[in-house]
Amino acid sequence: MSLLVSSVLALSSCSTDRTAATAPPTTTATTATTTSAAPAPQRVARLGAAVSAERLASAEPDAELVARHFDSVTPENAMKWSTTRPSATTWNWVGADAIVEFAERSGLDVRGHTLVWGQPSGNGMPPWLKETLNPADFTAAVLDGIDTQVTRYRGRVQRWDVVNEPFEALSGELQKNVFFERMGPDYIEQALRAARAADPDAELWINENATEYLPAKADALVELVRGLKGRGVPLDGVGLQTHLFLDAPLPAGAIADLIGGLRELGVDVALTEVDVPGGSANRDPTAQQALWKQVADECVAAGCVELTTWGVTDASTWLDSPTVRAGIPFLESFTVPTRPLLFDESGQAKPAFDIIEEALTRR
Ligand code: G3I
Repeated sequence: MSLLVSSVLALSSCSTDRTAATAPPTTTATTATTTSAAPAPQRVARLGAAVSAERLASAEPDAELVARHFDSVTPENAMKWSTTRPSATTWNWVGADAIVEFAERSGLDVRGHTLVWGQPSGNGMPPWLKETLNPADFTAAVLDGIDTQVTRYRGRVQRWDVVNEPFEALSGELQKNVFFERMGPDYIEQALRAARAADPDAELWINENATEYLPAKADALVELVRGLKGRGVPLDGVGLQTHLFLDAPLPAGAIADLIGGLRELGVDVALTEVDVPGGSANRDPTAQQALWKQVADECVAAGCVELTTWGVTDASTWLDSPTVRAGIPFLESFTVPTRPLLFDESGQAKPAFDIIEEALTRR
């Protein structure tokens, strides 16, 4: 099994002040005798970051960096059901509320992540839900849960990853996860319609990984979206997670082609979980930077609306957690931290940040 395949399998468990894509010019022309300062470059696509409430509240630089340089946040784990609904009768909103309140104070958008994730391991789904065997009870729990969570943040969460990773890790086959088994193959449509009913103004997204490396999975994602849109199912956007690997050359144009194909179906597209592990001491960081540039240039050229990094600083990457390192053979070859993000462990911008900023401020 190739390194990429085994790594993808394992996956299936802003110096410049923030300039929102639609931010009005920060200065206006004054009388002819004076000249206005050049307006801050406006981004043509949002820059987002996955965050944790714990790190935002700590002495770590995350809060200052996100408020200054980013346009949106994604709760890395705080809105997953294993966090928000630890039992059928209890809810835990502490982390999710803290992140939404931080976003509102900082003028940031929020990508709610995620309402339906059939990942058998990890914490996409709490044990009590997996153990709800009766299809009617399971369906009621899921639809009630979506209604409760989306209603709570109505008008405060701009877009939701309603369904995360509906496909098998390495193919274009729909996962036969518990949602598929107990709600039927149309569980994705049921979830999208429930979310739309709970907040008619929130954008509804599907989020998938590894499509940049797996053409069959990319094609299947396009066909899924074509079918849903053709049946009038509410769907506004598709997230391409874009967890990259230096040892797996990213086919030129793969991301741009998929973004273009999806946009033709009438959805927005964003790169939603980008990280580029640079890894071992002997790796040339310019290869890592070149991959960041390729990803951002293709994203912008194809008309994406956002690029979100999966974490804020290298100190907060999921890739360096022991369980993940053990699960992704490719990462085990690294003798040093993976350093996959735009800011180093102390919160200093890396060259990759300037590369991304340059790419996001011109079309
Ligand atoms: O919070 C508990 C803590 O109380 C407990 O002591 C500890 C040890 O068991 O676990 C902690 O929960 C962990 C959680 O991260 C918070 O650190 C879970 O075990 C662990 O499974 C979870 O991993 C997350 C993973 O999704 C699974 O939910 C990663 O941080 C997160 O980066 C990762 O993100 C996913 C996206 O949601 C979907 N796309 C793939 C991406 C990477 O797998």
